[in-house]
Amino acid sequence: MIHKAAEVLSVNRLGEDIFELRLLSPAAKEATPGQFVMLFPDSPAYLLGRPVSICEALPEKEELRFIFRRVGFGTAAFSRLSPGTELFLTGPLGNGFPLKEARGKVFILGGGIGIPPLFGLGKELKKDDSLSLNFILGYRSKAEGLFLSEDFSSLGDCRLTTDDGSEGFPGTVTDCIRSLDIIPDIIFSCGPLPMLRAVKQYAAEHGVKAYLSLEEKMACGVGACLGCVVKTTGTDPHSGVHNARVCAEGPVFDSEMVVL
Ligand SMILES: Cc1cc2nc3c(=O)[nH]c(=O)nc-3n(C[C@H](O)[C@H](O)[C@H](O)COP(=O)(O)OP(=O)(O)OC[C@H]3O[C@@H](n4cnc5c(N)ncnc54)[C@H](O)[C@@H]3O)c2cc1C
Ligand code: FES
Repeated sequence: MIHKAAEVLSVNRLGEDIFELRLLSPAAKEATPGQFVMLFPDSPAYLLGRPVSICEALPEKEELRFIFRRVGFGTAAFSRLSPGTELFLTGPLGNGFPLKEARGKVFILGGGIGIPPLFGLGKELKKDDSLSLNFILGYRSKAEGLFLSEDFSSLGDCRLTTDDGSEGFPGTVTDCIRSLDIIPDIIFSCGPLPMLRAVKQYAAEHGVKAYLSLEEKMACGVGACLGCVVKTTGTDPHSGVHNARVCAEGPVFDSEMVVL
């Protein structure tokens, strides 16, 4: 795990409030798909880092790519960064997706700002010719920006959905998968909670293994504050309670192991 300043390579606006950030950091050499970092806004008034998923790691260039939505102070500060400045980073953190579980027809379902970490996952799984990769990516609207959709198209079969029907399938990601005459062999997913609930439900109905990447408000990001716990079906070996920390045991969980 790296805990030091990273150089800002670029910040680009991709949509209304969507930005791409590229950082130079040796953390790129350690990262696996689905992991995240804590990025620290450069202001003494704000002590806490902001968890942001690694969209893509380029270890040979020591480069990390992130896509983020500007929602509050921290992400607004990131959107104003200039190339050549520095940003404090801790990571990579969390478990990442279980790549070895991928088999047969792999369905990768993303919603909104949950889409970025699935690109790194898709890139990694693309190396295995035995897999058929199918992406369903859900956006709010074409106007908000269909960020990363072209990147995903280069990896496999890619369907887009929009809430307002302005592009692709009108409706949700799970409406779209239910409209298909294909049952996946495995699902990897990241997105807002209602979407993950619907994916969990779909997986249970069809007897498909699904791994979900969860998002919770985080303070420390390293397992110390217990601010990010979720309820689980299993028992924590240390405390004996039905809890797991999204930042440490997650963010990726077997859908059968978490209560959403
Ligand atoms: C594992 C993980 C990966 C994430 N990956 C991405 C990503 O790739 N792109 C992206 O745009 N967003 C991502 N998020 C959400 C992102 O962390 C929040 O949007 C961000 O922290 C908001 O910070 P802010 O200062 O702009 O907003 P504020 O609302 O001002 O934040 C105030 C505080 O609440 C925390 N907070 C607020 N919203 C969230 C949230 N949804 N999740 C966690 N903490 C929150 C902040 O860290 C901060 O400490 C991820 C969250 C998690 C947990
Ligand atoms: S954010 Fe502190 S334990 Fe997860």
